[in-house]
Amino acid sequence: QSEPTSISIQIDEQAPIISKHIYGHFTEHLGRCIYDGIYVGENSSIPNTNGVRNDIVKALKELQIPNLRWPGGCFADEYHWKDGIGPKAGRPNILNTHWGMVEENNGFGTHEFLDLCNLLGTEPYLAGNVGSGTVEELNDWVEYCNYDGNTDMANLRKENGQDKPWHVKYWGIGNESWGCGGNMTPEYFANLYRQHATYARNYPGASIKRVASGADADNYHWTEVMMRDVPHHMMWGLSVHYYTRTGWPPRGSATNFDEADYFLFMDHCLKMNEILDKHMAIMDKYDPKKRVALVVDEWGSWYAVEKGTNPGFAYQQNSMRDAMIAGVTLNIFNTRVDRIKMANLAQAVNVLQAAILTEGENILLTPTYHVMKMYAVHQDAQLLPLNFKSPKYTFEGKSLPAISASASKKDGVVHISLVNIDANKENTVEVDCEALGVSDFTATIVTSDNLQDHNTFDNPNKVKVQGYNDFKFKKNKLTLTIPPFSVLMLEAK
Ligand code: AHR
Repeated sequence: QSEPTSISIQIDEQAPIISKHIYGHFTEHLGRCIYDGIYVGENSSIPNTNGVRNDIVKALKELQIPNLRWPGGCFADEYHWKDGIGPKAGRPNILNTHWGMVEENNGFGTHEFLDLCNLLGTEPYLAGNVGSGTVEELNDWVEYCNYDGNTDMANLRKENGQDKPWHVKYWGIGNESWGCGGNMTPEYFANLYRQHATYARNYPGASIKRVASGADADNYHWTEVMMRDVPHHMMWGLSVHYYTRTGWPPRGSATNFDEADYFLFMDHCLKMNEILDKHMAIMDKYDPKKRVALVVDEWGSWYAVEKGTNPGFAYQQNSMRDAMIAGVTLNIFNTRVDRIKMANLAQAVNVLQAAILTEGENILLTPTYHVMKMYAVHQDAQLLPLNFKSPKYTFEGKSLPAISASASKKDGVVHISLVNIDANKENTVEVDCEALGVSDFTATIVTSDNLQDHNTFDNPNKVKVQGYNDFKFKKNKLTLTIPPFSVLMLEAK
């Protein structure tokens, strides 16, 4: 039996708040995320509110989603928002060229999305089209959503049934402009961004936060140019996208994998540490006061699609491995909240590392959903920095840190989230609680017998959140054993 890993907690009154927006989600017109996912249409036999599935609304509400990004992704840069307003019969059919070359009828547009956000009690985060749109089109969209007065755009909104403006705060300007969003150079995009951001106006009572399309993974040059060439007051945030995947096209089955594959994916997942640190170092150079936020508005696992599904739909199952990816990634974000102010899991329903999967009238909550729900306690809580040296998870001579952790405090309650990614070994930690003055503990856990375990429509509760009590408290030290591949949330008062 090896020595327990000792974890000490720093009490730092100046520690930053973990922005709740780190727990954001993403819904794109991709595969079955919107159509045949969230949106089934008013005439569906599946219980719905204006076409949006009631069971999905209920499940997403329980996640306390702080913001929801829409309509893409790559789709955003070919989306012309005016196609998606007004009487549905008059809305044009369009072709989704990025995702499966499928036609859609624009039944789900700006009003439907913003009504969904209302139902969820979440902030909308709209992604504006820079790749194939115009400055005027973006300017009009912001005015349509946010201006309360007597102009063409405000009156059009009223005619379409929304009297008061929505005051949408978060606006993405471009998406992956280095790739699907226009294949631009950063120098060219920086200028386009400045132009588009200028005309994405603040209207009375509706000052907006503009997020610039940012780098892909380790494209540090993109971040360098944006921070250098765009005046910082024009950019509330600069994004970065990083997926846990092991190649392109994405490879590996979501559920049928061995330990070698698991190790490889966890290695890729942990690379998020280095990628964020390097982008943040560049941002610090140009913006030491950390005025510009780093926004990880796409993250998650990306495997080969499930057999028999449309290759353009990015539909994948979600196993205990994804629970590990979610837990580790959220800990990475929590511990960098002086710069990271927003993040969005890709995606909420039926796409990539989805929180929810649907099949006809059935719905299931994935292991990722359960981890996101457990971690919601960190939203807007004060970070408690931790000090510890992780034991190793070793496989075929290579090793990764086995334990990842983060902690926060809100209203006198402390939460510590702990992940043990080791596929075989439990790990014991000893948390020094003296400085916290806590003595009352409860814990929940997401764990299962096999790494490949996942929820199916026949067995939707195979992986779920359970109570956990394998811990002892003695002389101000809490000793707690974390089973292999499990995510644990400890609450202390
Ligand atoms: O989330 C799926 C896709 O991944 C998005 O559309 C795009 O931005 C990224 O490449």
